Amino acid sequence: MSGDRRKLLLACLLTLVLIAPLAYLWQQSRVPSSYSVMRMGHLDYGGGSQPVHATAGHEGHEDAGHGMAEQSVADLTEGTDRRADDVVVLTARRGRVRLDDGRSVSGYTVNGTSPGPLIEVTQGDLLEVRLRNADVPDGITLHWHGVDVPNAEDGVAGVTQDAVQPGEEHTYRFVARQRGTYWYHSHQVSHEQVIGGLLGALVVRPRVTDPSVRDVVAVAHTYDGIPTLNGGATVRVPARPGQRVRVRVVNSDNGPTQAWASAPLRVVAVDGTDVHRPTEVDGRAVVVTAGGRIDLEVVAPADVGAVRVQVGATTSVQVGGAGVEAPEAEQPTRTLDLLSYGSPSRLGIDPADVDRRFTYAIGRRPGFVRGRPGIWWTVNGHLFPDVPMYVVEEGDVVRVRITNSSGQVHPMHLHGHHAVVLSRNGVKATGSPWWFDSLNVLDGESYDVAFVADNPGIWMDHCHNLQHAQQGLLAHLMYAGVTTPYRLGSDSGNEPE
Ligand code: C2O
Ligand code: CU
Repeated sequence: MSGDRRKLLLACLLTLVLIAPLAYLWQQSRVPSSYSVMRMGHLDYGGGSQPVHATAGHEGHEDAGHGMAEQSVADLTEGTDRRADDVVVLTARRGRVRLDDGRSVSGYTVNGTSPGPLIEVTQGDLLEVRLRNADVPDGITLHWHGVDVPNAEDGVAGVTQDAVQPGEEHTYRFVARQRGTYWYHSHQVSHEQVIGGLLGALVVRPRVTDPSVRDVVAVAHTYDGIPTLNGGATVRVPARPGQRVRVRVVNSDNGPTQAWASAPLRVVAVDGTDVHRPTEVDGRAVVVTAGGRIDLEVVAPADVGAVRVQVGATTSVQVGGAGVEAPEAEQPTRTLDLLSYGSPSRLGIDPADVDRRFTYAIGRRPGFVRGRPGIWWTVNGHLFPDVPMYVVEEGDVVRVRITNSSGQVHPMHLHGHHAVVLSRNGVKATGSPWWFDSLNVLDGESYDVAFVADNPGIWMDHCHNLQHAQQGLLAHLMYAGVTTPYRLGSDSGNEPE
């Protein structure tokens, strides 16, 4: 062999040695054109027992049954045999969203507006929502963010239902058991549809309300770079002098925002759960996690005047006498720490007596996701789709350690459950029980949280920066024995992220 030929051969070999692993990684990162979420990633039992049928489902026998008690997500419904207390019809369209100031941006509307209509029900009501897709070409769904609905009503395309195609309709039914502030949004191509405005607020009122307290919802959303509250810059709330006003702030954006006021406030609820003995907050801003809700209470000034509740730098709620401009409110440099806010009360679970312990460690590394090279998010060191499938059994008490070493903030959201914060960076929670469904996890932080596995199904557990979810920052929580007939992948028409 001549020297030249040898060099050529060596060069070819070297290229192969370099390319082959890359080609392998690339191949591994591709997802099939149709597949079940039950086969996604690797099973994680959290140190608990390994239920037989969960493994069976994961191995691809999802429709075999085995004579074992398997349950389809499609059957995890409620209230199908009785009349609903509230019926709402929502029609979604693609098109222009008109903002209060007359500008319009391209996006999505529900019943002609974005945010869509506020749905208000009374605690305990059976709510029925008929969703119609007028013309959204990719199909749509509705997810009831923060409401622990039965799994069939969760609205995740390809996991709990098929996307609703143009001209089609889908009905959701669930009992609004927990009072509080929630929201709804599409969970099909959500990184586009939610950002484009396919969303609205849902308020579950207690059976008995205090008629002297005014109540207002403020949905924060950024349309094409324009931050808004309920589609405008200012929400005006007329109030009598001395009247208490509850402002329900919903953050429907991808990143955290902050709320503060020109007068002392109280944080009366977080993610739909009342705070136990909320104290007066002065000189601190309140972080509202992406996807999260904070209910604030302010008191209208005793004399003529108004209070400004600022949500982010440019939008506000003004509470007080009609036509009175509220004073400016300077943004406090410090933020309220929910870890120590309010007073402790019964948790209802014993976090020392746990059945499973999981880790949800968020990192970042170079690799391939969906066949594309990049520096992608990792969960426990793995890239999507090789993410954990956390397996639980009904009744388990579950602890999760969430850590973030990815260099960015991640608003983590588990569907179908509320979890409680036990500690942050090793510091125990000492305030009112901090129940959440959306948690702002900063770079370098670690949270220990706990929840009770009391809602069978297959549930997404993902970052609510919806771009991040689309880039693979997601995992699922699966109850042993639950199966889904729905499919993901390009041929399925379902793309939840
Ligand atoms: Cu608000 Cu999985 O979503
Ligand atoms: Cu994220």
